[in-house]
Amino acid sequence: MLTVENLTKRFGSNTAVDKATFTVDRPLMIGIIGRSGAGKSTFLRMMNRLTDATSGRLLFEGRDVLALRGAEKRAWQSDCAMIFQQFNLVPRMDVVSNVLHGTLAQRSSLATLFNVYPRADIHRAIDILDRLGIAAHAAKRAEALSGGQQQRVAIARALMQDPKVILADEPIASLDPMNAQIVMEALRRIHEEDGRMVIANLHTLDTARRYCDRVIGMRDGRIVFDGTPEQLTTGVARDIYGAGAEFSENATSTEIRDPVAAEEIRQAEVTV
Ligand SMILES: Nc1ncnc2c1ncn2[C@@H]1O[C@H](COP(=O)(O)OP(=O)(O)O)[C@@H](O)[C@H]1O
Ligand SMILES: [Mg+2]
Repeated sequence: MLTVENLTKRFGSNTAVDKATFTVDRPLMIGIIGRSGAGKSTFLRMMNRLTDATSGRLLFEGRDVLALRGAEKRAWQSDCAMIFQQFNLVPRMDVVSNVLHGTLAQRSSLATLFNVYPRADIHRAIDILDRLGIAAHAAKRAEALSGGQQQRVAIARALMQDPKVILADEPIASLDPMNAQIVMEALRRIHEEDGRMVIANLHTLDTARRYCDRVIGMRDGRIVFDGTPEQLTTGVARDIYGAGAEFSENATSTEIRDPVAAEEIRQAEVTV
């Protein structure tokens, strides 16, 4: 289904992703872990063609993704929806309109200009919001919602594209533990019920273990682990994070990047 072969991205002399190679034969939920700077975001950005690869190949259901141009590239980007840590909603716009933005690629610029949407699309947007438990907020401005609700709006916008793959770049890194759980459960449900592939960069080991079928560990641009959550032992995690004696089971990329934030997360986790 997905084949990644020697995928490489260099920024000058810095190799952000170094010959990444793996295959996926069915729509799994995959977590990518690794400390800050390991290459996780760059990998997702290459997959959805936000950035060009330096070399290597990426095939999805036979499509040579890195070679797509023009309309074919836009069709792929529609099949491969992206969710970000900071939600990327239009804050002053209402929730339904934000969700309807997920259909923009398929609409004329004139209709977009006048904010005219087909009735069927509006119904579908509300159905999707309902499925995510936030239909009651449909008419509110996005900025009036909590972080967890806004991330669910972003997921709804992604679903509007009816994507085959959902790429999520640290989707819960800005959320409190309760909302983080709600958002991860939503992604898991979308994966299980719709059979969509989900690839999520995750900043905690724990989340990857709990929600993913498969975990890929990156270190310095290279894939240093690819296996099941069960195979992700403390020793393996230590190797992925490149941590020394200070490493603990709670280690995350956040912890290594920012000890204060990590302590807050740890305390919040205890609360839940
Ligand atoms: N646009 C860019 N220009 C130059 N270097 C970049 C750019 N984006 C990422 N990098 C570098 O590539 C490496 C991997 O970054 P990134 O993919 O963001 O890692 P992660 O998401 O795992 O934190 C880092 O060394 C980072 O500094
Ligand atoms: Mg990143």
